[in-house]
Amino acid sequence: MKVEEVLSCSFPSWYDKFKKCTIKSIVVPLTPEVLAYMQDNGTLVLPEGSQPEPTYKKNKEEEDEEGDDWDHCETSGCVVQGPKLEEYNSKIKDAIKKLGGSVFPKLNWSAPKDASWIALNNSLRCCTPGDVYLLLKSSNFVTHDLTAPFKDCDDVNVADTNIDYCLVLRGWMEINPAHEFRCFVRNKELVGICQRDISQSYCCIGSDQANIRSDIISFWQENIENRFPLPNYVIDVYRPAKDCVILLDFNPFGETTDGLLFSWPELKGLDDARQCLSRIIEDEPDLNSIMEDPAANVFYFNERNFTDSNRQSYSPERNALTHSSLLESLPEFRFISDATGVQPSPYMQYGLPMDIVDLSTGQDPQKFIDFLQMKMQSEAAESSDDEDVSS
Ligand SMILES: Nc1ncnc2c1ncn2[C@@H]1O[C@H](COP(=O)(O)OP(=O)(O)O)[C@@H](O)[C@H]1O
Ligand SMILES: [Mg+2]
Repeated sequence: MKVEEVLSCSFPSWYDKFKKCTIKSIVVPLTPEVLAYMQDNGTLVLPEGSQPEPTYKKNKEEEDEEGDDWDHCETSGCVVQGPKLEEYNSKIKDAIKKLGGSVFPKLNWSAPKDASWIALNNSLRCCTPGDVYLLLKSSNFVTHDLTAPFKDCDDVNVADTNIDYCLVLRGWMEINPAHEFRCFVRNKELVGICQRDISQSYCCIGSDQANIRSDIISFWQENIENRFPLPNYVIDVYRPAKDCVILLDFNPFGETTDGLLFSWPELKGLDDARQCLSRIIEDEPDLNSIMEDPAANVFYFNERNFTDSNRQSYSPERNALTHSSLLESLPEFRFISDATGVQPSPYMQYGLPMDIVDLSTGQDPQKFIDFLQMKMQSEAAESSDDEDVSS
């Protein structure tokens, strides 16, 4: 992957060109103060005035009572103050108002999907600047945008990696994940489409698969194909109804983007195999040569699920027909057809404390050793208590 590919998928790079086919959004460049606040990984304190004042006014008695409760907690000099970002707060408020009262926030590439558990409404729907800051500051995905956007690029030492960071506010839209799809474009060819949420199977996809596939192909041909500057990229689309497709996002073509029901080696191979097949068919329309070519062979027999009996029943007379249907079979459309294909939700782990995640995945052996030692000590203490009692 190249730096240029990542930069072309940054929201401000593509939004103006594609605004007619995507959700209305407002881009607010991060000022140096806001960028510093986003990058600071100290205590999470919201900027002053970013949340509305509570409308409920306490009476004198209640205030005195509350004072008593909290007095003992006050430690001089350790009150953490949020930054003062009044001007930026009012830009966010204006944008929220213009977008209908609630927004979906993200930075140049990533939305804070891993942080929705921290919001009071358990969602990414934001109505105030404070809602926006809380989500962005709590998200590892957003931190990735701020610290390592070019992690998988092989030209990071030679390319211009300057980034103009922006807050992106998108008009809130209720999205049904059953109608979201990810599309993979390789060498300017739409090679694969699959459901976006792979934590569930949606029966409405299987029953409508031909229409979904053809709607997405038409949308891509009419709106994206000759207009996006890269040969390789991934788009996310929403198809809430027949003949209605909306662009949600562009993503770089490579491992930083989740291949979902495709693996990256196979996505990178899909179009190579296709081109290789076209070449072979032009030169020598004979199955034997396809079988001898490793790339074409993998695509032809594995991807199309041909069995040995298919191979044996193959007759040279059917070559032309089979070849042309093979070339027309891209993009391949994948979805989970029954509950056995369901995968765990990728965002489930983010609401848990890091120690629990490390222990459960075995990522930090030292933590596991500490945990076992703690357990042994507490068991030893318990058994000595028991002995004391019995003696
Ligand atoms: N305007 C919006 N309103 C509500 N939900 C949205 C909106 N835009 C995107 N989403 C939801 O959030 C998910 C992630 O959005 P996306 O912009 O692709 O972020 P990322 O690139 O971090 O995955 C989408 O799959 C969709 O379900
Ligand atoms: Mg994306």
